[in-house]
Amino acid sequence: MSRPYGCLAVYRALNNDRIVSSANQSRLRVPRHVAIVMDGNGRWAVRRRLPRTAGHRAGVKSVRTIVEESVRQGVEALTLFAFSSENWRRPKSEVNFLLELFVGALRAEVKRLNENGVRLRVIGERSAFPEKLQWGIAEAEEATKTNEAMLLQVAANYGGRWDITQAARRLAADARAGRIAPEDVDERLFSDRLSFPDLPDPDLFIRTGGEQRISNFLLWQSAYSELYFSELMWPDFDGAAYREALADFGHRQRRFGMTGDQADQAP
Ligand code: IPE
Ligand code: IPE
Ligand code: MG
Repeated sequence: MSRPYGCLAVYRALNNDRIVSSANQSRLRVPRHVAIVMDGNGRWAVRRRLPRTAGHRAGVKSVRTIVEESVRQGVEALTLFAFSSENWRRPKSEVNFLLELFVGALRAEVKRLNENGVRLRVIGERSAFPEKLQWGIAEAEEATKTNEAMLLQVAANYGGRWDITQAARRLAADARAGRIAPEDVDERLFSDRLSFPDLPDPDLFIRTGGEQRISNFLLWQSAYSELYFSELMWPDFDGAAYREALADFGHRQRRFGMTGDQADQAP
């Protein structure tokens, strides 16, 4: 994660993918950064005549599987949408359950994250969370901060519009303080104030649960992400399903506005 990721999104994305070889596959491109909307927990449970909360609990197992598979596959950053800025609209009991589940998972998973060399970072407006959860997040981030195999970003109380708005607010404050002039504002200055300016944009954007929408996830950063929609509910999304998504990505041609021939010749 030490490379300087500051240039324009398109240029960054052009240089994002790495070619890796694996034992029994021809050289497949592995996305450096994968973002996932983990959707379908509730429906998974309802189909089994279980309470929706059972689906959320089952979803934690999928998180573990996909994190570990990501490390194995050489993904450098994984961003998981765990709780959106709109999810507060759910029944209070479900919101409370999700927050408690998050507190418990942070506590329970740190050891495993360390074993796998995974550094945790939470993105989103965490000040809205109960103090207990804010502490849990800070502790887990601290306990994993030197890990280098992969960065796991959990988006909690995150919204793409929130992210863009807070970047705009920071730009306005910098302009008012005289640190920048309005005419200095460009894509680089803007993206430097988003939630994770140190990472490349997601190469692959996966949504499980059958819906084909972004639901206010990474609006700016997914400008050139490859989209992949899975019919599987999140608790059923296993290592094999994930590898299928990665393989699908590996066969796509990313053109970034160029012609196919140009893209073939791009570095
Ligand atoms: C995703 O599953 C988890 C969260 C949004 C927290 P859902 O709870 O949205 O599951 P469905 O879409 O109702 O099946
Ligand atoms: C998106 O799922 C948010 C998360 C997975 C955390 P939702 O289930 O909340 O999305 P909508 O409401 O169906 O668009
Ligand atoms: Mg849903």
